[in-house]
Amino acid sequence: MRYKNNKFYIENVSVNSICKLTNTPTYIYSYKKIKENILSFKKQFKSIDPLTCFSVKSNNNINILKIIKSFGLGADVVSMGELNRVLKAGISPKKIVFSGVGKTEEELKFAIKKKILLINTESESELITIEKIAKSIKKRIDIGLRLNPDTDARTLSKISTGKKENKFGLNKKDLLKIINNIKNSKYLNLLCLSVHIGSQITSHKPYEKMLQELSDTIKASKYKFEYIDLGGGMGIKYNKNEKTLNYIKYLHLIKKFLKKNKCKIIFEPGRSIIGNTGYLASKVIYMKKSGKKVFVILDAAMNDFMRPALYGANHTILASKKNSSKSKKTYEFVGPICETTDKFLSTNKFQVLKEGDIVLICDVGAYGIVLSSNYNLRTIPQEVLIKGSKIKTIKMRQTLKALNS
Ligand SMILES: Cc1ncc(COP(=O)(O)O)c(C=O)c1O
Repeated sequence: MRYKNNKFYIENVSVNSICKLTNTPTYIYSYKKIKENILSFKKQFKSIDPLTCFSVKSNNNINILKIIKSFGLGADVVSMGELNRVLKAGISPKKIVFSGVGKTEEELKFAIKKKILLINTESESELITIEKIAKSIKKRIDIGLRLNPDTDARTLSKISTGKKENKFGLNKKDLLKIINNIKNSKYLNLLCLSVHIGSQITSHKPYEKMLQELSDTIKASKYKFEYIDLGGGMGIKYNKNEKTLNYIKYLHLIKKFLKKNKCKIIFEPGRSIIGNTGYLASKVIYMKKSGKKVFVILDAAMNDFMRPALYGANHTILASKKNSSKSKKTYEFVGPICETTDKFLSTNKFQVLKEGDIVLICDVGAYGIVLSSNYNLRTIPQEVLIKGSKIKTIKMRQTLKALNS
């Protein structure tokens, strides 16, 4: 992914030539980058031989899941829809964990029927439901319990999940009581202690606190867990000056933890695998001057890519073609939806743009297309995968006909 003769290329194809074929807005992913991220993740943690379950909520395109599967990863799912999708992609049930604060009885029955590795539970009521199902089919079900470690992930407040005021997991006191109650259960086979403190974590410090909380909880429980599921959360670089997680330090902390607690580690990365593999190509519909401000009105909107409106997330925007003008402009990139939050970025250093130009919103592979909607009755964008010089449509653009049926 780079400029060549002033044109932006994803692998061997220029963005402008992709958009000629697909129109805009279009999500574009790079196979090479997905492969690179998976191999790099595996290499980082090779010495502890973890089970890595891709967090499907970050991107659930079946073609992407097939690539994930081809590199031996499992899946972390949070709904029956996601579970069904990963099974369809060919991921082995023995590499699937089911997370989430509120799984329905129907979803639990489906997961049990499919004999997945673990159902990670987060409430006593859900445990009662699992036990009821287990009794009715006279089977012992493999489960995990999610700890809320009251740990600040120091990330965007809206994607922090490990503090005591968050709805996720069980506090230590309740968790210990539950472990005590179910350790000899005829129907619940407690195998795993899980945790996930948030997303886009760029320091190893919150993980250090999380591992300490896990260690203390395990010690207090006097229970031998086969698996410890550390969740995901590893941050990526959205902007030039942002730092990223130091994997060596994180690994070092995990190794220290494993010395005291022998178990198999499970990871549930989403963003770190898929985040920087995707771009959203969008056309400038209008340039609108308003006083001193210039709005660049794109044909992509918050319904196509929600992170800026939802979390105030900052994504770099690039021009698909560099022009020769040295002058830099102050622009506000917005979508056409009638919401003030339908805004992608304000910048004061952008090249001169004109109507019809194509721009790329970067690093949209995670929590991009999965959060898209039909708000304003707008259709869902097309998705393409670039592999070398090949452009493969991995999801057609939604048609107006389909939208209205
Ligand atoms: C339980 C759980 N595991 C894993 C993830 C993936 O997180 P990330 O994409 O930050 O790696 C999430 C995301 O919120 C999650 O809720």
